[in-house]
Amino acid sequence: MDRVIIRHMGELLTMDGVGPRDAFRALMDAAMVVEDGHVRWLGLDQDLPVEYDGLEVDVEGALVSPGLVDAHTHLLYAGDRSYEVRMRAEGRTYLEILQAGGGILSTVQKTRNASDDELLWETRKRLSRAFSAGTTTLEVKSGYDLTAKGELRLLKLIARLAQEGPWRVAATALGAHAVPPEFQGRPDDFLVYLASEYLPHLPGLAEVVDIFCEPGVFSVESSRAYLQAAKRHGLRVKLHIDELADGGGGTLAASLGADSADHCAFTTPESFGAMAEAGTVAVILPGTARYLNHGHMADARAMLAAGGWVAVGSDGNPGSSPTDSLSSLMPWAASWLRFTPEEVWTSVTRAGAEALRRPQSGRLAVGVPADFVVWDCDHYAFPTYYYGTNLVREVYVDGRRAAVNHSSVL
Ligand code: NIG
Ligand code: FE
Repeated sequence: MDRVIIRHMGELLTMDGVGPRDAFRALMDAAMVVEDGHVRWLGLDQDLPVEYDGLEVDVEGALVSPGLVDAHTHLLYAGDRSYEVRMRAEGRTYLEILQAGGGILSTVQKTRNASDDELLWETRKRLSRAFSAGTTTLEVKSGYDLTAKGELRLLKLIARLAQEGPWRVAATALGAHAVPPEFQGRPDDFLVYLASEYLPHLPGLAEVVDIFCEPGVFSVESSRAYLQAAKRHGLRVKLHIDELADGGGGTLAASLGADSADHCAFTTPESFGAMAEAGTVAVILPGTARYLNHGHMADARAMLAAGGWVAVGSDGNPGSSPTDSLSSLMPWAASWLRFTPEEVWTSVTRAGAEALRRPQSGRLAVGVPADFVVWDCDHYAFPTYYYGTNLVREVYVDGRRAAVNHSSVL
């Protein structure tokens, strides 16, 4: 048997409470026993039962948390869109750039032209950066090919990267990410095409189907029909909603029993109420709202007040949120969403796992895989406060150390 004992954790966040308001749990001066990759015991260091002997790792008072869970990324793509910085400086909006054939569509051109190896190489680099910043479980969406065949290729590449690890990947099928040039001005025809050529091939490749439900892209009615078709294939559903305007996607998400509704920058308290009741997690992407600079931040407190789960995701993508680090957003979630340190931690661990329907992730409890982060600080408020620096010292998956950031080891 393979046993590792982590000792002298200044604070250990277990995040193992019940429900959105209560998930945050912390132990001081803690120890944790990992056997064959799973948590076997955790508690106060002074209570560590003597029968556990094995390799001891003394973290000397450091903060330890579950590996972060990023419930929303588009990290599989080719190229970058740094040229858009100048266009935005000249006053062009995200939707104007997209409607002029740029934005998502320019990444689509580059992704269609990229070989499997190029895409694997570029995406692997982003995944390993995300991992070194503390993300152990993350969603990766397809969505930058926009043909049935090409989107299936992207999902197969995501499956390959998932197998490589050490990260855990949840694959999402986002064929309905934008209207491709071949269907310009005919969004409904494109969705009919996807429903017949794409959705039937998804079982086994993706668990969840997503759509960009937004005024000017895919309407609420078209999104409903498309996601209902996905459900008939046994797939779960989620949506991008209200990223740029309130389009009523929140009530649609609730009525479909969606796993999550993401962005929610313009979502109303009534829609949040319906989502909370339906068990649809609100995945808030505060970096995107700020990056697009439209002056609107999701009213995450309304979702919390309604009793729902609120996850914070990176939305890592080449246009509206060029990053791969969820932990770098923690101070901004605190500041922009007016989250307490406890709410920030819940949003990047347990709530993310709830959004991805992965109950084994985002918490540390007896029996779950030992995925955890050792931080370069000794108390949990610090990573919700200190910005722009990777405070992650080490990342463990299945009880094995899989990343070390040497710069942070004093
Ligand atoms: O979540 N809104 C749609 N998709 C992404 C942006 C993708 C891109 O700009 O390349 C988002 O913001
Ligand atoms: Fe997104």
